[in-house]
Amino acid sequence: MYIEKVNTFLAQKYPEEPPKACVRSFGCQQNSNDGEKIKGLLSVMGYSFTDDTDNADIVIFNTCAVRENAELKIFGIVGEMKHLKKRKPDVLIGICGCMVQQEHIVEKIRRTYKQVDFVFGTFAMHKLPEILYKALTERTFIVDTAEYGITENICEKIVRDCTYKAGVQIMYGCNNFCTYCIVPYVRGRERSRKSDEIIAEIKGLVADGVKEIMLLGQNVNSYGRGLDEDIDFSRLLRKINGIDGDFRIRFMSSHPKDAGRELIDAILECEKVCKHLHLPVQSGSDRVLSAMNRGYTSAQYREIVDYARSKKTDFSFSTDIIVGFPNETREEFEETLELLEYVKFDSVFSFIYSKRNGTKAALIEDGVDYPEKAERMNILLKKQREIAVERYSSFIGREMLVLIDGPSATEGKVTGKSDEFIIVEVDGDSSLAGEYVKVRIIGAHNWALIGNIIN
Ligand code: 5AD
Ligand code: SF4
Repeated sequence: MYIEKVNTFLAQKYPEEPPKACVRSFGCQQNSNDGEKIKGLLSVMGYSFTDDTDNADIVIFNTCAVRENAELKIFGIVGEMKHLKKRKPDVLIGICGCMVQQEHIVEKIRRTYKQVDFVFGTFAMHKLPEILYKALTERTFIVDTAEYGITENICEKIVRDCTYKAGVQIMYGCNNFCTYCIVPYVRGRERSRKSDEIIAEIKGLVADGVKEIMLLGQNVNSYGRGLDEDIDFSRLLRKINGIDGDFRIRFMSSHPKDAGRELIDAILECEKVCKHLHLPVQSGSDRVLSAMNRGYTSAQYREIVDYARSKKTDFSFSTDIIVGFPNETREEFEETLELLEYVKFDSVFSFIYSKRNGTKAALIEDGVDYPEKAERMNILLKKQREIAVERYSSFIGREMLVLIDGPSATEGKVTGKSDEFIIVEVDGDSSLAGEYVKVRIIGAHNWALIGNIIN
């Protein structure tokens, strides 16, 4: 009902051409996917799109709360919007996503960021038409951060940022309560989408020519719990693998405590699933892992890696690491370095611990100062660069299938990603974007492999 109301209102207010919306998403792939869904809704309500806030009639910031840096950056950008609002008083400014699911943030916006017209949380995306209608007609500050429990897509239309790669949400929320993490507080408890809905969405995408499907969830291994179907993540993978078409399947993220042999077997059996696992380990120290409430030990993590590599010697792993968890000792940090050395990840996403109010770890008195944490971070980055160079060299001579993304930093070259999720650089121009090419690896940078196209 509100979709039509907004539509009619906008047609009257902007009779010449459709109003423009600018949607900016920060943070993880799930957030980008939410941004695409928000754009879908905006599009059916009558908006066209722009990347430039200055040209927009509505600007929506889809925010991330995982680290303080992300929040500070967003506050900076929203602060700047004061000038846009002054110049164009009719422009609507909205903030949604993880950050505003925290009460203190909404209060701060209400008090200090008067240019903001509306705020809606991670559970309330489907309420956007109603929120927007009120914002357009009443012009008061609107907040909706209620915890609605829907798992269906909020709109049939999704305006995708890329034509050949697409994220598909399979579950929402997280039940793990790692002590450092804000996500369970801002995205709620785990809810899985029905497998039929997921399959239908993927079939549609493949029919539209999408070549890579990324299954999304905070903890995809818990997929299916609480659903009225006899299904789990491995079975879902097999079902998706059975869909006809020329596409590959990735997923993100897995939790080591739920990633067992069955998952590795499913990955190996399904020819469309990339032989790569992003498996955030966070730390190599059992004391720290326990303080993080991760539910596995360093040895159990290594067992999963060993099993995968016993079946396929070059099975590819990437991970997330938190450096400087409260009171992490130098020795405990060194255990993380040892783990990196053992596993030889293709890529490591590392973060300095950021205190998140409301989490358990925020209550720990931390005896480690920031310069020490920053130094550990540098040591870890250097170590991982060395490991990557060594691992990348082992790929020289090999054939790989690469889905090309676009121009490289090097002139006359393009980059794409291999099944292993490694960046590969080859000769070519942007006409190759969205194409699979078969490549022979002939060398390596420390950030990418170098290949020759052979088909
Ligand atoms: N501080 C630093 N990094 C964090 N992550 C999650 N919470 C925090 C935090 N409070 C990292 C973890 C996670 C990734 C998405 O972000 O490594 O896997
Ligand atoms: Fe994604 Fe977590 Fe950031 Fe939310 S807080 S956008 S779920 S990384």
